Amino acid sequence: MLVSRAYIPDGLLPADDRQRWRWPFTVPAVAELADRGLEFDQPVTFLVGENGSGKSTVVEALAEAYGLDAQGGRAGRKYGNARPKTPLGELLRLETTVEGARMRGGARLKRKGYFLRAETAFGFMEQVRGLPGYWQEDTSRMSHGEGFLTVLQSMFGEPGFYVMDEPEAALSFDSCLRLVALVYELGRSGAQVVCATHSPLLAATPGADIIEVGDHGIRRTAWDKLALVDRWRRYLNAPDSYLRHIVGSTDPSQT
Ligand SMILES: Nc1ncnc2c1ncn2[C@@H]1O[C@H](COP(=O)(O)OP(=O)(O)OP(=O)(O)O)[C@@H](O)[C@H]1O
Ligand SMILES: [Mg+2]
Repeated sequence: MLVSRAYIPDGLLPADDRQRWRWPFTVPAVAELADRGLEFDQPVTFLVGENGSGKSTVVEALAEAYGLDAQGGRAGRKYGNARPKTPLGELLRLETTVEGARMRGGARLKRKGYFLRAETAFGFMEQVRGLPGYWQEDTSRMSHGEGFLTVLQSMFGEPGFYVMDEPEAALSFDSCLRLVALVYELGRSGAQVVCATHSPLLAATPGADIIEVGDHGIRRTAWDKLALVDRWRRYLNAPDSYLRHIVGSTDPSQT
């Protein structure tokens, strides 16, 4: 483990209460993070929650706080067109373990980690292919999912801080299982992974901590108690029970 807690130091919190009514503090998960911080208990942590519940806001800020670019990419890279940090990334600080402090304090190129953001990963993959420290394979000649796994496998090879935002977007069921194996091995090898996901498959990675974000704020939840898992179970057991509310009768004789 490298990072044990994320928090906003008292002095940095907006003193003016009205600021707390502005984004991102209007997002309940961010408000709770600002008030209490967020502890990391396991090397692998998943953030799960509805669309708009604040997963990307939080993982981007974590990536920025560690020194990873929120556009996606590896630690220690110098960004030609560096963007300003996000509002939460500006304020967030990380408590690190001894190992984490050593890595963050070390030379820029020794700082390992990667922020994998599904939305921007593809443009970025093309830009950096063949550069030192990146993969050599031509991902433009691969399918979406093949390219993605190539990147994951080549970048995720060493202890570091790995932040992912919905990495399942491009992946088939089998490829998701390969990602579970990769994430599990990373966690065991001294790396740390924080991953936002809508995938019950990924969230089932053995030993992972699951944080459910939503209107309630932040809560740790066991995998089989997640709303996400409950809904997928019900849907797969009986799609009709959902579909009849969405498209009316699903009985062909009624159309
Ligand atoms: N730059 C921004 N300015 C203002 N509001 C924003 C900004 N970015 C995101 N939001 C809002 O913050 C909330 C949380 O967004 P976020 O992208 O973190 O959700 P998410 O949990 O990642 O959702 P999804 O599952 O759809 O990816 C949403 O209501 C969103 O509209
Ligand atoms: Mg998101």
